[in-house]
Amino acid sequence: MKFYIETFGCQMNDRDSLIMTQILEQAGYGQGAGILDADVIVINTCSIRGKAEQKAYSLIGSLRKHKLANPATILIVTGCVAQQEGAAMVSRMGHVDMVLGPQAIYGLIDHLETVKGTGESLILTDQSKKFAIPPFLPDIHHSTPHKRFVTIMQGCNNFCTYCIVPFTRGREVSRSPADIIAEVQHLISLGVKEITLLGQNVNSYGLDQPADSRTSFPQLLREVAAIEGLMRLRFTTSNAKDLSPELMDCFRDLDNLCLHFHLPMQSGSNEILERMNRKYTVADYLVLVDGLRTVAPDISITTDVIVGFPNETDADFMGTMALMEQVRYDSAFSFIYSNRPPALSCDFADDISKEEKSRRLALFQKRQREITVEQHQRFIGREFDLMIEGESKMGHGQWSGRSTHNIIVNFHSGVQYKPGDMVRVVVTEGLMNSLRAELIES
Ligand code: SAH
Ligand code: SF4
Ligand code: F3S
Repeated sequence: MKFYIETFGCQMNDRDSLIMTQILEQAGYGQGAGILDADVIVINTCSIRGKAEQKAYSLIGSLRKHKLANPATILIVTGCVAQQEGAAMVSRMGHVDMVLGPQAIYGLIDHLETVKGTGESLILTDQSKKFAIPPFLPDIHHSTPHKRFVTIMQGCNNFCTYCIVPFTRGREVSRSPADIIAEVQHLISLGVKEITLLGQNVNSYGLDQPADSRTSFPQLLREVAAIEGLMRLRFTTSNAKDLSPELMDCFRDLDNLCLHFHLPMQSGSNEILERMNRKYTVADYLVLVDGLRTVAPDISITTDVIVGFPNETDADFMGTMALMEQVRYDSAFSFIYSNRPPALSCDFADDISKEEKSRRLALFQKRQREITVEQHQRFIGREFDLMIEGESKMGHGQWSGRSTHNIIVNFHSGVQYKPGDMVRVVVTEGLMNSLRAELIES
């Protein structure tokens, strides 16, 4: 029996796909070469913006003919669209056999047994029970062997008014520090060099646990950083509303904590931030940026931005442009606001035209591209330790590595490297998506 998993969305889904891969392999399934070559097809979906959801539906819809011609094939939809749609998914897509919310994937094999041969669809999207994330020891032959994500918590309690995640991923559940440490140790024993700790808002790690037995995120970071053999440690994402001084101190104290902070601003207008329910102001945000740059002057700061939030005025948007200008991000992900029912902002009045929103996004992106190049040029003449990612697309002895700032650096070398090897280079050029450098030491 063969399976095939198609994954959309964020690292949470990447991890869930890895878990499903491992569960299926342990049950004796092998990886199919392509989606049409599989007995079990899993579409792991994302619904963060309307376009992501459309992508999922169009792939699921395109499998209708295949399913009708091969009725024994089991088609499973997982991820955030599955959680959000539940039974509605099957009404729209009658050829879907199973709709599993993110908390139901751990029982995949049992669910397959339940559904096989019945011709009935199984829908499991209940989030009402108290949920605990089972321990998970991954197997190395999947994906990039030198670096891995480790989920430290699931869900989100913040209910930013535009966001679907609290509805699809449920309330915050922290994994136990012991499980996290065991997983990291296990990955290191398999040869992993770099770990990224994952959560929708890692700063609230542990807050769902009783106060007398809880480990805070900065404490967890210190414990993980101390694990023998861990060369690089990263984390994402942090909500600015509860970024603590203790977390900032980690950048001063922990040698293997990478100098990169992803700090979504979302907007540079206090009014919009308030309507987004972000619980910080532009001034609060700037204090955090200053604080980070005080403990770690070289730190790379990146961000997420939403333009065209309902009734965002020109002045609001100019606030976002001004904040970008002031912080000077190394890079930014920027999106046009998308209505995500049942998120609260769907009911907000919005007089801003689509064209105007696109114009604002283009303006933001154009200026950010310029700032990115300028920021990258600040590194010229600097020496970096790079972790090798692999041979660059250009081939002919061109290699790509990643700096502590999470920036791709390309250089030439006659040596044959493995992903995860370290080299020392000097930066010679700052470009839009990468840096150029010369090798100093292999
Ligand atoms: N938990 C993270 C965000 C995860 S979603 C945090 O709070 O920072 C990743 C990004 O998608 C968000 O930062 C936001 O910029 C964007 N996003 C989320 N919902 C959106 C929506 N409805 N429309 C447009 N962009 C959205
Ligand atoms: Fe969404 Fe806000 Fe939670 Fe991030 S913190 S996942 S933007 S609700
Ligand atoms: Fe998408 Fe769900 Fe992740 S909406 S971004 S897959 S948490």
